[in-house]
Amino acid sequence: MSFVEQIREKARAVPMRIVLPEGDEPRTVQAAAILHKEKIANPILLGNPASVYAAAEATGTDLSGIPIVFPAESPVLPVYAKKLYEIRKEKGMTESGAFEQVLDPMYYGIMMVKTGDADGLVSGAVHSTGDMLRPALQIIKTRPGINIVSSSFLMDCPNRNLGENGLLVYADCVVMPCPTAEELAQIAVSAADTARKLCGFKEPRVAMLSFSTKGSAKHALVSKVQEATEIAHRLAPDLLLDGELQFDAALIPEVGKSKAKGSPVAGRANVLVFPDLQAGNIGYKITQRIGGAEAVAVLQGLDRPCNDLSRGCSVDDIVTTVALTAVQAQPSMESSGPSPD
Ligand code: ACO
Repeated sequence: MSFVEQIREKARAVPMRIVLPEGDEPRTVQAAAILHKEKIANPILLGNPASVYAAAEATGTDLSGIPIVFPAESPVLPVYAKKLYEIRKEKGMTESGAFEQVLDPMYYGIMMVKTGDADGLVSGAVHSTGDMLRPALQIIKTRPGINIVSSSFLMDCPNRNLGENGLLVYADCVVMPCPTAEELAQIAVSAADTARKLCGFKEPRVAMLSFSTKGSAKHALVSKVQEATEIAHRLAPDLLLDGELQFDAALIPEVGKSKAKGSPVAGRANVLVFPDLQAGNIGYKITQRIGGAEAVAVLQGLDRPCNDLSRGCSVDDIVTTVALTAVQAQPSMESSGPSPD
């Protein structure tokens, strides 16, 4: 079974309610029908029912059995608006502003997750990553004990000798443009956690990537990765983590042996932590487009699961991302329930 099939299977075990704010987007309606029919998750579509059904008709999709919620006519709209006001008033939110904002399906969907009316959210077929992330960061916020939200890309590579039978975790390729050493260390620890929980890695082996291996080059950028490595060791002393390592030293056994002799990670890493978002985002796209890997992203560190799609996503990508979100939402994956504030 491929990694994607395994995730869909896991999602089926405990179907979760996943809200899709872009409810009248043609790929989203088609994905919702597949999720419902194949019992992968219980999708909830947001939008004006007239436009949702128009998208369904245009794509020949049967939406029977799938709830459609129109925020503007929802009886809980005032409840969500009040709650949103309470959460954001210290940041300058007014009561009328909250009412206005919660009409936006993105904010309405986030409020559904916040209040426990949905178990997770997937968006981004139309919205940009920033538009999807900002309400999640502002309202859902981080899990207790975690300071930053970041991401992991789960890369299923055709070369089965890499990582864990071809599966690699790349972080962070979506969220933090320019992490500090402290933030990079937290990204590494979160990515190892994602590797354990979502990919089933018994032993995450984390490489802190750079253009230098073990001091082969001297530069402030290299020093930052070295510092992040030290901090990560303090944050998670039992984690197999090493740096700084070049990409080949991290992945290829012979290179790892010659450039970083004795390293517990070099040559056999299964979690790769990129030094910043430019490197991470470019790196995952090269692996996907030139290396032929299947790539799927998850956000890590949020208190409830919300995930972003690429605007170029296919129907199948949406189904997979919803399945991953559902798995993240399953009770054994959660550290806490919906927060009371
Ligand atoms: N973790 C936790 N909280 C955060 C984080 C984070 N990583 N980043 C911002 N926040 C919080 C802020 O503290 C703030 O909280 P507050 O309003 O309660 O004080 C809130 O989120 C909003 O922060 P802003 O600073 O107003 O938002 P910003 O404009 O910095 O946007 C964002 C944050 C959207 C994550 C930004 O960093 C961003 O655009 N990142 C890149 C996204 C992107 O384009 N990725 C590449 C494409 S994705 C792809 O190719 C698959």
